[in-house]
Parts: sequence; structure tokens; C-alpha cells
Amino acid sequence: MKPFLKLIPWYQAYKRDLPWRQTNDPYLIWLSEVILQQTRVEQGLPYYLKFSNRYPTVKQLAKANDDEVMKLWQGLGYYNRAKNMLGTARAVVALHKGIFPNTYEQLLTLKGIGPYTAAAIASFAFNEAQAVVDGNVNRVLARYFGIEEPINSHAGKTLFAQLANDVLNKKDPASHNQAMMELGAMVCKPTNPICHDCVLQQTCVAFTSGTVNQYPVKLKKQPPKVRHLHYLVVNHARHTYVKQRKNERIWHNLYEPPCIETSAEADVWSDPNAKQIATNHSQVTAAFSCKHQLTHQTIYATFWVIKVKRGYEFPLAGYEKIAITELHTLAVHRLFDKFLQMYTLHW
Ligand code: ADE
Ligand code: SF4
Repeated sequence: MKPFLKLIPWYQAYKRDLPWRQTNDPYLIWLSEVILQQTRVEQGLPYYLKFSNRYPTVKQLAKANDDEVMKLWQGLGYYNRAKNMLGTARAVVALHKGIFPNTYEQLLTLKGIGPYTAAAIASFAFNEAQAVVDGNVNRVLARYFGIEEPINSHAGKTLFAQLANDVLNKKDPASHNQAMMELGAMVCKPTNPICHDCVLQQTCVAFTSGTVNQYPVKLKKQPPKVRHLHYLVVNHARHTYVKQRKNERIWHNLYEPPCIETSAEADVWSDPNAKQIATNHSQVTAAFSCKHQLTHQTIYATFWVIKVKRGYEFPLAGYEKIAITELHTLAVHRLFDKFLQMYTLHW
């Protein structure tokens, strides 16, 4: 008998009795999965009961008052999840007449439903053969197969999704998926897994090689890089200078003013390029500072407005000259836009 076939009988005998396991209503399954994202079962359970009582159908949730939903959600955290949930409920009503799509592919087209949630709904409600892959499932697979590839690398995500589908019991994907998650939650726990009670033990690579605590491998997130950027916004006879970013990893093709990067301590005006722009024919004002958070970098930005006195030629090589009143026609990045929003009245 293939080892993973043992999962369903084990699950049937030992599963926790949870209310969302007694329904095949896609709406209630979706509701439970949204609540259980980043929430433990014990903490999520009362919220699931409250929401399913108050809004037994997706149509009722779609009609709900936003504030009432937020109030019911209170204490669960990640309030965007509640907002997105309401948005998705309304989309199901608007686009699908209040009937949840009944295939994995169609579920994926809904905003807020990703591969995990789509697989959960498709398998639990419609018994479609789609493997769910969450943290619990990843851990079981990494240990069982002894996978060194990090679960959160690009290659890892592909590999674990592939493995999860390889071991999926195609005859009963709903029970199989529940069983994998249950094994990860109750037996193959992050710390102190109960291997002596595990139905996969005999063929588990990590167990048989005594390396259970070496899995799963996870890439450490790099802390965001801190950068100090100075944007020199020239006002020369009501014209300014901008450049389109080319071959850049972020903000590609968007326009920005001349930019100088300094280390935290450095004075931007000791930079020769800055000196060339802010000559003694100009008046310099620190107009706006802000912190701008990107996925991999934290930017501390200062926008300096450099008002050039009348009568001076001011050629700035490599930049496009544009009337300040025309700036709004250019595609600019969010950071420059923040400045423009703040400063528009002060030119
Ligand atoms: N966590 C996320 N989904 C779950 C489910 N369906 N059952 C138990 N725990 C879960
Ligand atoms: Fe996890 Fe231990 Fe079972 Fe292997 S034997 S799958 S490590 S609980």
C-alpha cells in the first residue's frame, strides 16, 4: 500500500470535529479559509461561528454593512483580510449571481482567491483533484521526502506544489487535503513532532535518518536595505528637469528629477553633481521629506526645490526640460508623486 493512502483512514479516525468540515458549501468553506489564514483554529473558530450565523450565504455577506463586518472581525487582526473578503463576496454576487464558481480555474479568477484558497474550495466543496499547499503541507512533504530546497524559494514553491499533487489521493482529494493539513497541525508539528504516532513514519526520510529538525529549510528574508535619496527639483523659469528611468529593477520607464544617493551621514551638497545643479544663482529649500517603504528597501527621501534666479542659462545635460504645469502628463513613480501631491500649491 502506498504510504500516503494511509492518511485518509487515519484522518477519519482521529480528525478534530470542526464545523467547516461538515459542509460542502463553497461559501462556508471559503469563509473558514479566509478566517484561518494566519489564525489558529481555536482562535478562528468563534469568528467562523459568528460570521456563518450572521451571514449564512454569500449574498447576505455581500449586502452587509462594512462597519458591521469590521466590528465582527475585531480581534482577528489583519483588517485588510476582512475588507478583501467583503469585496470578494460582492464580486461573487456581481459577476456570478451569488453562486460560487465551481472549478479551481474559475475560482482563481476571483480577486483575493489565490492557489491555496482555490484548491481548498475546489477540493472540499467540489472534490476536484487539486492539492492544497500551505505551511503544514510543506512541512510534512519536506520531512517525508527530505527536501533541502527552501520552501519559500521560487524553485521550492514549484517543487512542493508538484510533490503535493503527486501524492494527492485522486479518488478523495477532499479528505486527502484535510488529512495532510491535519497531520501537519497535529502530528508533524513544527516542534516536537509525534513521529511515533505517524502513519508515514516507516518511509519518512527525515525520521529514518534522524534529521527531523533539519526540515523544512526556509530562506531567511533579507532585511530591507536602507537608502537615502535626494531629489533635486529645479524651478527654472517655471520649468523643471526630469529623466526617464531606464533598465531599472523598480520604477522602470517612470520619470523622476535628478537624484543623488548619500550615506546616512553625508551632506548631499558635498556631492559634485549636486553642487553643479545648486549653483550660487539659486535658492535651495528642503521642501519635503518622507520615508517610503518598498518590498526590499526603505527609502528616506528628501526633495529639494532649487529655484534658479532669472536671467541665467541652466542647461542640465541628460535631462528633459518640461514646464512645471505639464508635469502631471508624465508617468511618475509613487515617491515623486507623493512630493507632487504635497507641493503642487507651493510652486
Ligand atoms: N487551517 C486552514 N484550513 C484549515 C482547515 N480546513 N481545517 C483545519 N485547519 C485549517
Ligand atoms: Fe513528520 Fe515524523 Fe511523520 Fe516524518 S514521521 S512525516 S517527520 S511526523
